[in-house]
Amino acid sequence: MYITGTGRTKFGSVSKSLIELAYEAMLGAVNDSPLEITDIDAILVSNFLGGPLNGQLHLNSQIASLLPGMNIPIIRIETACASSSVALNQASYCLGKCKNVMIIGVEKMTGNNLIPSTEAIAMAGDCDLDKNNGLIFPAAYALLAACYMNKYGMGHETLEKISYINHKNANLNPLAHFYHKDVSYEMIRKSPMVSDPLNLFDCSPISDGAGAIIVSNQKYSDRDISLLSTQIATDSISLAERKDITSFSATKVAARKAYGEAGIGPKNISVLEVHDCFTISELIALEDLGICEPGQGPSLIENGDITLKGRIPVNTDGGLKADGHPIGATGLAQICEIVTQLRQEAGKRQIDDPEFGLAQNIGGIGGTCGITILEG
Ligand code: COA
Repeated sequence: MYITGTGRTKFGSVSKSLIELAYEAMLGAVNDSPLEITDIDAILVSNFLGGPLNGQLHLNSQIASLLPGMNIPIIRIETACASSSVALNQASYCLGKCKNVMIIGVEKMTGNNLIPSTEAIAMAGDCDLDKNNGLIFPAAYALLAACYMNKYGMGHETLEKISYINHKNANLNPLAHFYHKDVSYEMIRKSPMVSDPLNLFDCSPISDGAGAIIVSNQKYSDRDISLLSTQIATDSISLAERKDITSFSATKVAARKAYGEAGIGPKNISVLEVHDCFTISELIALEDLGICEPGQGPSLIENGDITLKGRIPVNTDGGLKADGHPIGATGLAQICEIVTQLRQEAGKRQIDDPEFGLAQNIGGIGGTCGITILEG
């Protein structure tokens, strides 16, 4: 299987509708590939909040309206923030019947008050056990951070470094939510508390945006990138039902299967995109993916290993923290970035000679995980 086209919009607060964003990304992916739109046999649409925030469901039919007369199968997939990596996973099964499948991820989150948005996002967690007891997303990840800090004796400075590195990378990515924002350690340190110990710069923002990719069962050009593995795994949704909240089993299981299918291990990965919806989840991802041992994540950060020139560059586009987190599009933005790096087309943020890239995309607080491994 091959990724034969990618497209994405600018992330941030954008004055375009859900469907306009989807159209822009879709067009981008077709223009990036050697294919015509009429070569696409099926489309999977990833979206989480169209119902609660935009009053729009039946998105597959909305996408069909953009393609009059094509009448192809179009299906919406929803697994919270992991929707687009799960859609990619399902697309790999479609390739048994189809030649070319498009995945479109789209979300329109801005333009609403913070409270309804926060409540809507909290539907990705367990409503009975967690949300209705006050465990909205910033609070849940704050609990994880507090447990991690207590277990391994880590200070908040390590999380500040993660935020700083992501913002620096985003300054090199014109499509990032915070491309133009110059961020200093002082701004990060002095930013308002959101949920102790996490402050504003530990959180991903509320973003609009879309991404699209085309997967094909044959190679059409030298720019096509091999899709070595796509795996998904799940876990209990409520934190109350987990044995350990400083690690996500869903990531570990999906990663183990993906490394096995790809025939490589963590040491072979040249570039990583991880789901840093809050800075603590970047740290947990590095450990769950086997990039380092449990508790060793902070040393990786402190040594500068995850920077563009480091041993294992992470979130070269700015990650969810600074590229943005339009939920249904996030996993596809990760794939777009890895494809761009593997094609050596990332400009000022290009890393040296990447061979294999891995994307980790989480839904809820580790309830679903999609892992994708690509080869250049
Ligand atoms: N990081 C850095 N700066 C941020 C930011 C973030 N995450 N979110 C907003 N800002 C900045 C804005 O750019 C704005 O800056 P300006 O005054 O220079 O223009 C300022 O903070 C105020 O923005 P506003 O939109 O009013 O922020 P807010 O207080 O409404 O929301 C959060 C801030 C952190 C509460 C919100 O972004 C949030 O809920 N994030 C988490 C989203 C989430 O849970 N996603 C799912 C995760 S799985």
